[in-house]
Amino acid sequence: MDKKIVYSAVQPSGNLTIGNYLGAIRNWVKMQSEYECFYAIANMHAITVKQEPAELRRRTLELAALYLACGLDPENCALYVQSQIPQHAELTWTLNTIAYVGELSRMTQFKDKSQKHAENINMGLMDYPVLMAADILLYQAQYVPVGADQKQHVEIARDLAIRFNNRFGETFTVPEPLILKGGAKICSLQEPTKKMSKSDENPNASVYLTDGKDDVLRKFRRAVTDSDNEIRVSDEKPGVSNLINIYCAFRGCTTEEAEREFAGKGYGDLKLAVGETVADVISPIQQEQKKILADKTYLAEVLKAGAEKAYKAARRTLSKVYRKVGFYQGE
Ligand code: TYM
Repeated sequence: MDKKIVYSAVQPSGNLTIGNYLGAIRNWVKMQSEYECFYAIANMHAITVKQEPAELRRRTLELAALYLACGLDPENCALYVQSQIPQHAELTWTLNTIAYVGELSRMTQFKDKSQKHAENINMGLMDYPVLMAADILLYQAQYVPVGADQKQHVEIARDLAIRFNNRFGETFTVPEPLILKGGAKICSLQEPTKKMSKSDENPNASVYLTDGKDDVLRKFRRAVTDSDNEIRVSDEKPGVSNLINIYCAFRGCTTEEAEREFAGKGYGDLKLAVGETVADVISPIQQEQKKILADKTYLAEVLKAGAEKAYKAARRTLSKVYRKVGFYQGE
């Protein structure tokens, strides 16, 4: 039987955080041997907010190297750059004609980003979920491994798939978000009710995958907690809960095990233990990323092979879509 298809992507819009790793990339690695996987670098999504062109290009390659350094195997999955596959934009246009302005303007991320970038509320920002739906549907993906913040977008992709299939006949696989417990919502170290984000202006709020051990330890040391000194997970203790959550996600232990381990200890002990655990995991990734980045030829080959594989799959779906909607495709 054919393997089920998995699709996901990350935007090269800033330094990746441990949230991106735990919520997404780490799970992608686990899925690559069992599924047919397509993992993209979503540079078309990235330009919905202003990007410095040279930096965007550099970050694209850095992200590709990071994918490999985290353990994605180009023999097992297609790693490619979104803008190299023209069908993403083409399918977006078609899906735009069945997507409603009302549903797009109600998206949480659109509302947040419109507030944050009030000077640049462009059509791309609003159309972002349709491009994301096109990404997923082009590859007939069954599963979309993402963090909790992307759930609403995968749901729009589902809605559009169902709507299109109803109107034009079975065309798209209806995708499901795959949100694994534990790392699905890593929060800011400074405002622990908010998600950790690569675009946060406060560098102490996020732990980047590129941070050195000293920075990691310092950021955790400064993490916001609360005034009692009890190490347990609770809605009233978002800062401490976040630290325990990060610890468990990296250690592979349960909350109860972590609470037992830290019983009677202070916040300082917890912060140090989380910092060291995180640094131990990310430092070999950094070394590997550096090595891969030094070999630009290899990196280009990986992305070329990925794009070729993606192109074949994307072309097949788009041609089916064009036939269904009645576009002339030559004789
Ligand atoms: P992006 O680049 O914002 O984030 C990439 C992935 O990281 C997850 N994530 C988190 N997980 C846990 N805790 C956090 N604090 C955290 N922050 C981010 C995100 O949920 C995501 O899985 N729109 C997408 C990129 C995209 C995409 C797609 C994803 C484009 N096309 C198709 C899936 C399928 C995005 O902006 O992710």
